[in-house]
Amino acid sequence: MMTMSTASSPNLPPGTAAMNMMKSYRGKLPLSVVTVVVFTIAFIALVYTERLSPLSGSASILKLRSCPSARAPAPIEAVDRDGEDSRNNSEVDDRLEFDPEECSITSGKWVFNRSLEPLYADSTCPYLDRQVACVENGQLDTDYRHWEWQPDDCVLPKFNPERALKKLRGKRLMFVGDSLQRGQWQSFVCMVDTVIPSGKKSLRRGRVHTVFRAMEYNATVEFYWAPFLVESNSDIHVIADPRKRILKVDSVVKHARHWTGVDILLFNTYVWWMSGLRINSLWGSFANGEEGYEPLDLPVAYRLGLKTWANWVDSNINPNRTRVFFTTMSPTHMRSADWGHKDGIKCFNETKPVMKKNHWGTGSDMRVMNVVSTVIGKMKVPVTVLNITQLSEYRIDAHTSVYTETGGQVLTEEQKADPLHHADCIHWCLPGIPDTWNQIFYAHL
Ligand SMILES: *[C@@H]1O[C@H](CO)[C@@H](O)[C@H](O)[C@H]1NC(C)=O
Ligand SMILES: *[C@@H]1O[C@H](CO)[C@@H](O)[C@H](O)[C@H]1NC(C)=O
Ligand SMILES: *[C@@H]1O[C@H](CO)[C@@H](O)[C@H](O)[C@H]1NC(C)=O
Ligand SMILES: *[C@@H]1O[C@H](CO)[C@@H](O)[C@H](O)[C@H]1NC(C)=O
Ligand SMILES: *[C@@H]1O[C@H](CO)[C@@H](O)[C@H](O)[C@H]1NC(C)=O
Ligand SMILES: *[C@@H]1O[C@H](CO)[C@@H](O)[C@H](O)[C@H]1NC(C)=O
Repeated sequence: MMTMSTASSPNLPPGTAAMNMMKSYRGKLPLSVVTVVVFTIAFIALVYTERLSPLSGSASILKLRSCPSARAPAPIEAVDRDGEDSRNNSEVDDRLEFDPEECSITSGKWVFNRSLEPLYADSTCPYLDRQVACVENGQLDTDYRHWEWQPDDCVLPKFNPERALKKLRGKRLMFVGDSLQRGQWQSFVCMVDTVIPSGKKSLRRGRVHTVFRAMEYNATVEFYWAPFLVESNSDIHVIADPRKRILKVDSVVKHARHWTGVDILLFNTYVWWMSGLRINSLWGSFANGEEGYEPLDLPVAYRLGLKTWANWVDSNINPNRTRVFFTTMSPTHMRSADWGHKDGIKCFNETKPVMKKNHWGTGSDMRVMNVVSTVIGKMKVPVTVLNITQLSEYRIDAHTSVYTETGGQVLTEEQKADPLHHADCIHWCLPGIPDTWNQIFYAHL
């Protein structure tokens, strides 16, 4: 079992930290209060769900008090308007075959297609964390599973599990990062699992490092937990209070020594930096241990941390042998006013994507994106950026929301009725959006 210790230890009741934070921030600009509270609530959601949870047993579908009806989605305007056209267009498709050099996957649209089915279900994939198994946790509206990302200029190939496995033959693939990256890892494993007969695969779970093996292919699909990529005092024993976290922004080797010898590496890091507070950063060697840290503004600390990672990659990775990918920030949807639902509660009860082209909310920090662009742009080792931020920004409907767990338990009906405190608008249901991220990754493999 690899339960993160703090996740199950008696914690502050949700909201307390947010309120404390609000107090200590009183007197500042209202916007900063809003930001801090939004991010702190986001953070609490994160900490409360941040656990490598044991596999869920056979969960009964919970009865919901008010069930979002399983009606067909009201056709979305954008689809409606050119629905027929686009159907015909896709037959005489003038979009090109996917070419990573030519086609931008960031500009495109989500198209609803009822007959589109995910490759797996939460009831058929044994590797899903309870945290993201929304349908098992009582989600009745499953429309979010039937949307397809269509780039404007090209056709994104479908994820083909056999071909993916063939490309991995004799190789190690490792996802490195936070729980969003763990979601992407689970999605990948669940998709390839569908074509591997039982007895030809294994899963070895570790607290930090988990290895899925496809024996006939001599391939592994691994996950390594490093939520900041760089080292921190909150990597293994998660510290709930972000003010007590200290990041060693110039140290990565403790994690990185587990990355050597891997053939394909995928990294991410974002949401753990977004506490809304300055980042307690430590660098160099201090005789007095962790006393010598300085609080740095997010973009500054993030840049230092990412550069540390980039330097490690540049000096330790042979690009002839190893491919490196970086998944851009996974948006959070904590503020419904961002998409014009002033009376909404975060992403709760959202059933349709945002259709406004280039919609960008407060849950995606452009400053972080700019740091990622500049740092990766200067690296010697080529890094393929999986730029999933824009396409995920639209998907307010696909988060786990209240169909998740806390402290190992599916939310109670009472908790579900209190989405302000309990809706998780950071993580994504599986099957779901991370399948699309993997479709894009697969297209680059
Ligand atoms: C699609 O195009 C064909 C001709 O190219 C036309 O006959 C048909 O009616 C169109 N279908 C729709 C649904 O618009
Ligand atoms: C919907 O998805 C199905 C299954 O992938 C596919 O065969 C069909 O062509 C899609 N329809 C449209 C309009 O794209
Ligand atoms: C299996 O893959 C590993 C690398 O992941 C390699 O070292 C080993 O030689 C491979 N074994 C076989 C039998 O191909
Ligand atoms: C990678 O391969 C190229 C061409 O084979 C070679 O010139 C280069 O030195 C290699 N780079 C490294 C780091 O081994
Ligand atoms: C959820 O949305 C539906 C309509 O989309 C609405 O009827 C219902 O009241 C909403 N539920 C809550 C708790 O806001
Ligand atoms: C990702 O795409 C966005 C547009 O959606 C762009 O602004 C950003 O620079 C891209 N990021 C990277 C790292 O390429």
